[in-house]
Amino acid sequence: MEQIHYRWAALGVGVIGNELARAQQAMGGNLYSVGNRTHAKAVAFAETYGIGKVYDKPEDIFADPAVDIVYISTPHNTHMQYILPALAAGKHVLCEKAITLNSDELDRAAACAKEHHVVLAEAMTLYHMPLYKELTSRIRSGKLGPLRMIQMNFGSYKEYDMTNRFFNRHLAGGALLDIGVYALSFVRWFMTSTPDQILSQVKYAPSGVDEQAGILLQNKEGEMATVTLSLHAKQPKRGLLVFDKGYIEIYDYPRGMTAVLTDTATGRTQQITEGRTDQALCYEVADMEKAVSGHGSMHLDYTTDVMAMMTRMRRDWHMTYPEEE
Ligand SMILES: NC(=O)c1ccc[n+]([C@@H]2O[C@H](COP(=O)([O-])OP(=O)(O)OC[C@H]3O[C@@H](n4cnc5c(N)ncnc54)[C@H](OP(=O)(O)O)[C@@H]3O)[C@@H](O)[C@H]2O)c1
Repeated sequence: MEQIHYRWAALGVGVIGNELARAQQAMGGNLYSVGNRTHAKAVAFAETYGIGKVYDKPEDIFADPAVDIVYISTPHNTHMQYILPALAAGKHVLCEKAITLNSDELDRAAACAKEHHVVLAEAMTLYHMPLYKELTSRIRSGKLGPLRMIQMNFGSYKEYDMTNRFFNRHLAGGALLDIGVYALSFVRWFMTSTPDQILSQVKYAPSGVDEQAGILLQNKEGEMATVTLSLHAKQPKRGLLVFDKGYIEIYDYPRGMTAVLTDTATGRTQQITEGRTDQALCYEVADMEKAVSGHGSMHLDYTTDVMAMMTRMRRDWHMTYPEEE
């Protein structure tokens, strides 16, 4: 496994913040420092993982010259208030999905990263899973023929609590930004170019955020995708790629390690296993460090395309967040 070479500061200490701390330790390293809205939780987090430095407030991270990379894991609508000052202070930023609320925000953040010569990336695990890299090389070999269609599902059953971040408009809740971002990132990873035709249907939760959506996509190469999302009905996290000569199924795709390839002429199946689901964040951290050292990509180009799709769909739905009004 790759080692940690840079000094990372965690901004946020929730579920995924804890996972990232564990990933760094599994890589034989550790977070350098931590800052959080509720200071006492940052202190407890630092004690749990043996992290040497706790800031009084999250913003103090940006003034610390020792910090190389800031990992932001707060709710979607708080990302911009941290991304911009972090980049402006010359820090590289890995920010949880969805990286911003809309394309305008992402464009501003990307321009700021460019101006300050630092890496800006969304923590989209599937871009870093070895399985995806292996599937891409098999697809590029041409043996399966051209890609025709993609089917994507992502549904989780969240209790109807309109105050939690999944349904809360004031925490940029909704299926699209929370889970649709995975499905659309999967689509973008495999499609030759970003879809230019987008049709969608939405059903709202009582809080006014998107609870359920059906999406149809097509790009200029004629590759098509269907995506179904729900926050209040479980679906298998299943991805299906359909080619002229076969199809590939991937289960639990955000951190997928196994796919099944079916040859349509013979009906023969082949299981492809690459990487490990439980090391998903380690791959992401390693790729971020490579990008920071100038030797890799975090695929902000795909993130930009996915954000454009989500922004366009919410515009079609006339759905806005308070920050956008
Ligand atoms: N990539 C993945 O697999 C994955 C998985 C889960 C979540 N996520 C993403 O990660 C982010 C956090 O999710 P989570 O499940 O870790 O959430 P969580 O457990 O609720 O933790 C949220 C963190 O954000 C802080 N926070 C909440 N509201 C804030 C505000 N208004 N201003 C500043 N800080 C605030 C909290 O601080 P306090 O301690 O003060 O409350 C806490 O540290 C979301 O963007 C989510 O989409 C990604």
